[in-house]
Amino acid sequence: RPRVFSGMQPTNASLHLGNYLGALREWARLQDDHDAVYCVVDLHAITAGHDPEQMLHRTRVTAAQYLAGGIDPDRSTLFVQSHVPEHTQLAWVLSCITGFGEAGRMTQFKDKSARSGTESTTVGLFTYPVLQAADILLYNTDRVPVGEDQRQHIELTRNLAGRFNSRFGDTFVLPEPYIPEATAKIYDLQDPTAKMSKSVAGSGLIELLESPKTIEKRIKSAVTDTGREVVVDAENKPGVTNLITILSAFGDRPVERIEQDFAGRGYGDLKKEVAAAVLDIVVPFQRRVHELLDDPAELDSVLARGAAKARDVAGPTLETVYRRVGFLTAR
Ligand code: TYM
Repeated sequence: RPRVFSGMQPTNASLHLGNYLGALREWARLQDDHDAVYCVVDLHAITAGHDPEQMLHRTRVTAAQYLAGGIDPDRSTLFVQSHVPEHTQLAWVLSCITGFGEAGRMTQFKDKSARSGTESTTVGLFTYPVLQAADILLYNTDRVPVGEDQRQHIELTRNLAGRFNSRFGDTFVLPEPYIPEATAKIYDLQDPTAKMSKSVAGSGLIELLESPKTIEKRIKSAVTDTGREVVVDAENKPGVTNLITILSAFGDRPVERIEQDFAGRGYGDLKKEVAAAVLDIVVPFQRRVHELLDDPAELDSVLARGAAKARDVAGPTLETVYRRVGFLTAR
């Protein structure tokens, strides 16, 4: 079975609709016919300043959301990145075959560092995509299920894998991005030309663990467009198009059917149905997350088992890498 690997940062306590539709929902589906490895990437979450006390909680809440979203720790490998030291070890080796300019061309780095300024931009943020490449390459990953915003990082991963292979001998599988077409990019409900993002707090962000009342309110006050027809038109009706995408994904209803169903009806009706479809999934999801968090010891032991399984794969990969690079074996 082909292998998939993916991860999310525990930067906020809650995942948002984009994380869910662009990633988590696909991850759960992929378990049926893939050997799946899913990671809470805590090492990535300290690149831009963080609160140590919140970190611990956020790591558990993120893991609980994976489980509530359908990740089955008996079928898949679910673990926390910092529990598997091979990630940082491989990242160092890869950083030594990554060009400075090459890393500097990563658009996520350029955007984030431009926002915070050179003095408060960390070296960790700069080398972030190299650590991401290590995550993926340690597991001989065939496919990486992510949203559109991660495409460039997967491309860098492929380049580094190919470069390592040609310099040191065939070692890594070149991974393919696996990006769901319909939900690759969910937009902010207040600014439907911008991606929904954890780092842009505001009422256009729908967090899965937010109270159902707030979620409903935010959906109902989503920015729509001029005109009255409920039809997909990404250019002229980005707000309505985003809502249709969300309704289609949550309600398992094709976009064309939605357009037909809403013929002669307005935006208000659309928002009502979007809110209902989202809450149908989100309310039981929240209940499950809270149950899981009621027993942190059990959650931690699930994660410890996952880390042991992950190391069984990551350890041998790193050993091969060290040997190929020419490091002396400790005996
Ligand atoms: P992160 O934590 O920012 O996002 C987690 C996943 O959610 C997707 N996503 C979206 N999809 C659709 N619409 C949106 N508005 C939206 N916002 C976020 C992201 O594409 C991602 O799939 N660098 C990664 C974490 C990472 C990783 C990895 C991923 C670290 N190592 C190895 C894959 C493989 C990140 O910051 O994701």
